[in-house]
Amino acid sequence: MSASTPFPFAIDARGPLRGALTVPGDKSISHRSLMFAGLAVGESRIEGLLEGEDVLATAAAMRAMGATVERHDDGAWHVWGVGVGGLLQPETALEMGNSGTSTRLLMGLIASHGITATFTGDASLSKRPMGRVIDPLSRMGAEFTSSPGGRLPLTMRGLNPAVPIDYTLPVASAQVKSAVLLAGLNAPGITRVIEPIATRDHSERMLTGFGAELSVEDSPQGRVISIRGEAELKPQQITVPGDPSSAAFWMVAASIVPGSDVTIANVGLNPTRTGIITALRMMGADIAEIDRRVVGGEPVADLRVRHAPLSAIQVPADLAPSMIDEYPALFVAAAFADGRTIARGADELRVKESDRIAAMAAALSNNGVAIEEFEDGLAITGSAGKPIAGGGAVASKLDHRIAMSMVVAGLGARAPVRIDDAAPVATSYPSFFTTLDQLTGRDEPA
Ligand code: S3P
Repeated sequence: MSASTPFPFAIDARGPLRGALTVPGDKSISHRSLMFAGLAVGESRIEGLLEGEDVLATAAAMRAMGATVERHDDGAWHVWGVGVGGLLQPETALEMGNSGTSTRLLMGLIASHGITATFTGDASLSKRPMGRVIDPLSRMGAEFTSSPGGRLPLTMRGLNPAVPIDYTLPVASAQVKSAVLLAGLNAPGITRVIEPIATRDHSERMLTGFGAELSVEDSPQGRVISIRGEAELKPQQITVPGDPSSAAFWMVAASIVPGSDVTIANVGLNPTRTGIITALRMMGADIAEIDRRVVGGEPVADLRVRHAPLSAIQVPADLAPSMIDEYPALFVAAAFADGRTIARGADELRVKESDRIAAMAAALSNNGVAIEEFEDGLAITGSAGKPIAGGGAVASKLDHRIAMSMVVAGLGARAPVRIDDAAPVATSYPSFFTTLDQLTGRDEPA
């Protein structure tokens, strides 16, 4: 499966999901592993890297800028970095596909190197706002020529030495935070990011692990992250935990399909990522954590999820940053809950791989679910555990999470849910359909 070859998929109801599964490596940590290893001096080894198209775009970009990035036969990835300050000018445009994380974090890296790079992307990525990184990186001295509205394709020229800045995030975005910190890695002196609302902290944890001088303090204005530039990163052995954002589809699927009982091994449980577990538990989901441990500096556990009747909730808006990618899956859970779930304060969903508020409102209402759309979220009236009507079309809008969420919805629908294109699933979860067949007993010979 490749995101560029359309893959229409109709999903009809299936029986319980049962058994054990693993999910691919965390996407955020996988991108960062390749980038930070690509800036270290010496050889890093990465186990459990997500081999989805988004992460492969990061690997290709790091190669194009001088790092050696190889996959060995045992499945581990080996990276020989160029050293902070050592990125080479890429000879051709950096093709980012669907990946906002690759684009924004790499823009940060390039901003403090004296090189020029052009970024291109697919139709989805080319609609996404880059102004949020262009603004702070311009203050650090980088120059940009972008398409109208601060969009791709864009060309940037970094500046070395760049100007370290103090920057308060105007949006709760780990990508913007990371872009500024990564630019700060090669700027002389201290670069500071103040985040009024905490977002995923993988960059902070991993940069510290790679030997950067980075501190985090709480202040009345929020978390203050300071990084000392002209850093020397030391190569690392990294084990990437399973992606909680990928696990979320199975948490919801097992919760809504009667008789389900699944155990998802090795799921990353960084507290900046676990809002979906909190929200599902508030709805009554049965999610047990087994063998909590630390892998590669991140908390992980196996999660056992059994079917349970769900009740509607008011989703606390302050959970948004820690479950920003999980709203589409949560909306599906709400479609099967008893009562009207209201999720607001999630306006960032409008600028993801698709406008996820509009895309999920259309997808669910086409399949018989009563929806009210707000600028910043949705209200969803659930079926109280009964099947939803289904039988409707879904436009996935080049968005992997819309496609996977609506596959999950189809598991509990009376008539097949028809997804126009499930190919974008390859960007983050290439083995999704194989796991679906395993869990629903479709992989065995008839
Ligand atoms: C990510 C941050 C989030 C998230 C994205 C991955 C990251 O984006 O939606 O999938 O790895 O830093 P924003 O920073 O735009 O919220």
